[in-house]
Amino acid sequence: MSQRFRVLLLPGDGIGPEVVAAARRVADAAAARFGLTLEYEERRIGAAAIREEGAPVSKETLRRAGEADAVLLGAVGDPEFDGGEVRPEAGLLALRRELGTFANLRPVAAIPALSGSSPLRPGVAEGVDLLIVRELTGGAYFGEKEEGEERASDLSVYTRGEVERVARVAFEAARGRRGRVASVDKANVLATSRLWRRVVGEVARDYPDVALEHVLVDAAAMHLVTDPGRFDVILTENLFGDILSDEAAVLPGSMGMLPSASLGEPGSPGIFEPVHGSAPDIAGKGVANPYAAILSAAMMFRHGLGRPEAAEAIERGVEAAVAAGCLTPDLGGSSGTEEAAEAVARRVAAEE
Ligand code: NAI
Ligand code: MG
Repeated sequence: MSQRFRVLLLPGDGIGPEVVAAARRVADAAAARFGLTLEYEERRIGAAAIREEGAPVSKETLRRAGEADAVLLGAVGDPEFDGGEVRPEAGLLALRRELGTFANLRPVAAIPALSGSSPLRPGVAEGVDLLIVRELTGGAYFGEKEEGEERASDLSVYTRGEVERVARVAFEAARGRRGRVASVDKANVLATSRLWRRVVGEVARDYPDVALEHVLVDAAAMHLVTDPGRFDVILTENLFGDILSDEAAVLPGSMGMLPSASLGEPGSPGIFEPVHGSAPDIAGKGVANPYAAILSAAMMFRHGLGRPEAAEAIERGVEAAVAAGCLTPDLGGSSGTEEAAEAVARRVAAEE
């Protein structure tokens, strides 16, 4: 009997609908190959939802997200609402809050065919294959704030439970990879980091097959540009993760290749989306790079639907399509969005 999954599609704004259609095309090819059935529902988020429904995400959409097995999202944001009172991005924040997604996963992998576009010296980013696991709902971004003319503060708070649950996500992910976790903190200065280090060390005892090292955040920032190949899984708190994940994002040389997953408690639906935004400058032209969205669909199979073999087939399909020269303009080629999606879908379907 074929396994069925409910996928909520939230294409959003700008190039979102184009890249989500591409991701769906490839997800369907993977589902057909591995005997799964994906049941889609499509709803609005972001500027599209503000225009049609009066809010960046409706209560009904949040409810449907909670009932889905996974949410596949495009991007939100539209210059029309810049500086306005109701922001499209609020839809994304409300969705993350609704689903309690406390772990943000961003894999960064070098793509051999694109090695010329890395900003680093040739060879440094070669073979990079790392995963950043960033805590997403705690720390200085969410602590108590004080904002005056002469004095301001952001309180950074972490609890044992918050550290433990995100650490487990990182160790589980490491098991499916090269079995190494680098936990990044600032334990020589910050009390939250000392708690972080202690709790991560305790969680590590449940994963004797995974090697743990603790790295100070300033050293980690250096290693990312001098020797990024040394990392497998990087586990870190919200603020450090925000900065390190953007630093790591430039390694492969293109934003259009980077997927992400935001995960909550086991069993609750995750959100899978490309790292890039709505790219209003190229929206509607059929030239957006769909690989980040397609690789997000791969993450959906791996982390959201428990079907890693489908994820791997999609990842191999993208690598093969890129190696065969199927490149969108941002990668220096002239392929369109649909052409790139077809190239991957064909390989996913036909692979031996
Ligand atoms: P952006 O990522 O949308 O675009 C930055 C540059 O990269 C643009 O030149 C764009 O054309 C290019 N680009 C991005 N994705 C591409 C793709 N798949 N293929 C080819 N080229 C691509 O970031 P920007 O311009 O700062 O923001 C545009 C809008 O997107 C804003 O409203 C912003 O708030 C929103 N945004 C939304 C995010 C999300 O939904 N998670 C994340 C980042 C920005
Ligand atoms: Mg950032």
